[in-house]
Amino acid sequence: MTKSSSLLTIFFLLFVFTIKLKFATAGDSVKDTDGNVLNVTSEYSILQSTNNGDGVTVTRVKGKLAVILSSNALPVTFTDSNESKVILIDDIVSINFTNITEHSGSSSWIVVYDESTKLSYIGVGSAKEYPGQQIKTGTFKIESIGAHYKIVFCSDVNKSSCKNVGVDGTEGKIRRLVINGSLLPIQFKKA
Ligand SMILES: *[C@@H]1O[C@H](CO)[C@@H](O)[C@H](O)[C@H]1NC(C)=O
Ligand SMILES: *[C@@H]1O[C@H](CO)[C@@H](O)[C@H](O)[C@H]1NC(C)=O
Ligand SMILES: *[C@@H]1O[C@H](CO)[C@@H](O)[C@H](O)[C@H]1NC(C)=O
Ligand SMILES: *[C@@H]1O[C@H](CO)[C@@H](O)[C@H](O)[C@H]1NC(C)=O
Ligand SMILES: *[C@@H]1O[C@H](CO)[C@@H](O)[C@H](O)[C@H]1NC(C)=O
Ligand SMILES: *[C@@H]1O[C@H](CO)[C@@H](O)[C@H](O)[C@H]1NC(C)=O
Repeated sequence: MTKSSSLLTIFFLLFVFTIKLKFATAGDSVKDTDGNVLNVTSEYSILQSTNNGDGVTVTRVKGKLAVILSSNALPVTFTDSNESKVILIDDIVSINFTNITEHSGSSSWIVVYDESTKLSYIGVGSAKEYPGQQIKTGTFKIESIGAHYKIVFCSDVNKSSCKNVGVDGTEGKIRRLVINGSLLPIQFKKA
């Protein structure tokens, strides 16, 4: 390789990295795996962006519906609190599974405090389905991490401190989604 062609290569690589490093920020739209902007009418699978691309679905843990990471994914819809038709980074969103048999359809994510494990996990529906457990009020947001995304929960108790929606591995083989668990980088695939 000549000196000038290796210089060109270096400039090319710098160019590619600069493009790659243009991360999304607040106000930018959230994109699906096809590069299309997430909108409120489409259904999406939430997939782990690393490893084998496991997905987010729901199961019963000790009799209660819990959102988990598993080998399949149950589609969700997003709603943006600004009544925007597209989903923006850092906007308050609600997340609904679209096909929960127990709820004959749509049901939204909530945060439930499990006293026995001292963990706040993601459930679906309403307080009446979680007797004896406390519902944490707050809001969900989608934030970007590199080329991927994460979901955070901002408790009404302290809105300035949003916590990652991560994964907990302590319930045997069931990987519940919990507040402040190990980081879960995700992507959205149109269902
Ligand atoms: C939502 O996005 C999908 C592509 O991901 C597109 O087919 C559909 O038309 C969009 N809907 C609206 C209302 O923009
Ligand atoms: C939408 O609402 C969020 C709070 O949910 C706010 O931070 C943001 O600035 C709003 N965006 C627009 C475009 O109004
Ligand atoms: C909804 O879920 C049921 C049971 O899991 C499944 O049989 C059905 O095909 C699903 N419907 C849609 C529209 O995905
Ligand atoms: C989400 O689910 C809740 C019930 O949990 C329902 O009231 C609401 O209309 C649903 N939203 C959408 C956009 O389907
Ligand atoms: C809220 O969270 C922020 C950041 O973690 C912290 O600095 C602040 O003290 C908290 N406020 C309250 C009332 O807990
Ligand atoms: C969240 O996790 C961090 C690091 O593991 C820990 O320092 C912090 O106390 C946790 N916060 C809550 C509210 O559990």
